[in-house]
Amino acid sequence: TTRSLFLLPGDGIGPEAMAEVRKLIAHINEKEDAGFVTDEGLVGGSAYDAHGQAISEEDMAKAMAADAVLFGAVGGPKWDGVPYEVRPEAGLLRLRKDMALFANLRPAICYPALAASSSLKPEVVEGLDILIVRELTGGVYFGEPKEIVDLGNGQKRGIDTQVYDTFEIERIAGVAFELARTRGNKVCSMEKHNVMKSGVLWKEVVAATHAAKYSDVELTHMLADAGGMQLVRWPKQFDVIVTDNLFGDMLSDVAAMLTGSLGMLPSASLGAPDPVTGKRKALYEPVHGSAPDIAGQGIANPIAMIASFAMCLRYSFGMIAEADRLEKAISTVLDKGLRTGDIMSDGCTRVTTSEMGDAVLEAYAAG
Ligand code: NAI
Ligand code: MG
Repeated sequence: TTRSLFLLPGDGIGPEAMAEVRKLIAHINEKEDAGFVTDEGLVGGSAYDAHGQAISEEDMAKAMAADAVLFGAVGGPKWDGVPYEVRPEAGLLRLRKDMALFANLRPAICYPALAASSSLKPEVVEGLDILIVRELTGGVYFGEPKEIVDLGNGQKRGIDTQVYDTFEIERIAGVAFELARTRGNKVCSMEKHNVMKSGVLWKEVVAATHAAKYSDVELTHMLADAGGMQLVRWPKQFDVIVTDNLFGDMLSDVAAMLTGSLGMLPSASLGAPDPVTGKRKALYEPVHGSAPDIAGQGIANPIAMIASFAMCLRYSFGMIAEADRLEKAISTVLDKGLRTGDIMSDGCTRVTTSEMGDAVLEAYAAG
């Protein structure tokens, strides 16, 4: 078999983190005959510098054709003044839109070695492993009308519209239930049916999807504001949380802070299965940005990018054993006390980006 990966390292620390993933890909190809075939393109500011677009049509076509896209990060002060349509973020937005990536997966895992440095009490987060599934292409960020209306009396009105259709709720619920089956078999759906019509429909459709196809999974419902509270109070009560675009944006940022640094957090964005091959389009990226303040120094934490690659192994290629081993390798390296600057604490050993990448590779190879 061949497995195609399209790499878009982007700007700032993106290429530095991607270099560590490239080492892992080479190792897995060599030792495990995985058949990864990689190609690489430009996105963000580096693409703008090369050809005046945030991503070229040629690279878009490659992203659409690949089994999976690995994305680093885009942006930086260098491109603050470029025209809006070709700003660095436009490259990522174009990828999300054309690949129709409607499901955003954000795990919040607390590695034992980092439990003490969480903003919550260690016992609240130790062993935490939850997954937030956020609807990414609908809801209030996209619904029409979306405008600022001049009311003519010195007043203006800002309008955003929350819209969800049955099929959008069904497909995101389906992703959440399927993922739950591979984990703790529990889904908590969050909305605000007490004040929102789209919330009433959300709850109904999630329940109907559950009854029709996924009744083996435990389903609960929670109001999204209470959900935010529960995430901070006792996050280990959750396994998979499924929610809409706006609530998911906020709840996944809350969950992120349970586990420590931005430099640790991976994400995946998935599209619908191809009707012929059954394969989903997918893009994997760290949650962090291009970190211009530390770019070029070789000190960025590559774990978020490496953990994103682990998600790619798991969700795009079904390489579950390899994904487990890679996540275990990250945990092992942290247990040994190796730390990049962003997660440094007393008594630990400070390492560079490539030393961290090498240590994870070594632990993976030994695991
Ligand atoms: P950021 O995530 O790039 O950095 C925030 C802080 O966290 C910085 O102090 C940075 O040094 C630190 N940090 C982030 N990742 C780290 C890592 N792997 N290792 C060690 N430290 C790390 O967010 P910021 O500063 O708001 O944005 C910087 C640029 O990145 C902007 O141009 C922004 O638009 C862009 N950005 C891009 C994203 C993407 O490509 N998906 C997401 C977020 C921001
Ligand atoms: Mg956000």
